[in-house]
Amino acid sequence: MSGQGVSPNVVFQAGTFTRAEREAATGHAGSTVWLTGLSGSGKSTVAIALEQLLVRGGTPAYLLDGDNLRHGLNGDLGFDAASRAENVRRAGEVALLFADAGVVAIVPLISPYRADRDRVRERHQETGVPFVEVFVDTPIELCEQRDVKGLYAKARAGEIKGFTGIDDPYEAPTDPDLVLTPGPTPDEAAAAVATLLSH
Ligand code: ADX
Repeated sequence: MSGQGVSPNVVFQAGTFTRAEREAATGHAGSTVWLTGLSGSGKSTVAIALEQLLVRGGTPAYLLDGDNLRHGLNGDLGFDAASRAENVRRAGEVALLFADAGVVAIVPLISPYRADRDRVRERHQETGVPFVEVFVDTPIELCEQRDVKGLYAKARAGEIKGFTGIDDPYEAPTDPDLVLTPGPTPDEAAAAVATLLSH
């Protein structure tokens, strides 16, 4: 893996194993499942069901939830476009490391900007790590009606500025690997996602 940045005199140190050797030795191939969609669309619910499905079936998987990452790694980031871009970049880089290590990284993040998501895909392609983009396509009316965290009400009241879908943009994927619409149970949705991973 290699990345660019402000560290020009840093040489990438390849590991002892290639990913193929690691996979042959452990029997596990990593990949990244990226779930994008509005707040309240059900991304995390599907992600949790997918993690359970995979881990119970013996496939190492790990949930990198946007809300949770914002309590630690991304705790210094807000919700302006640059901060969201950095949030997505960091989550993508961590997912890439997990996936490279042979784990299925499951990343539910609003990730509202197409270009940010595409960069994560490109980083995976550069290193040959499988990446699947799942669009959790729940209409905003339904997300707002659910309003599990009460944030839509706050956004409508003007207590939260720049809330995705209300007064901040959401750019839907143009070519997602899978679109999930309301209807299936979380377990059914997770099973549909899992079929993308069987290789
Ligand atoms: S992202 O846009 O940078 O990808 P992320 O998925 O990490 O967002 O975090 C979104 C979560 O932060 C939402 O589920 C919601 O709970 C909370 N949140 C707080 N402020 C905002 C906001 N302005 N826009 C969207 N979500 C917000």
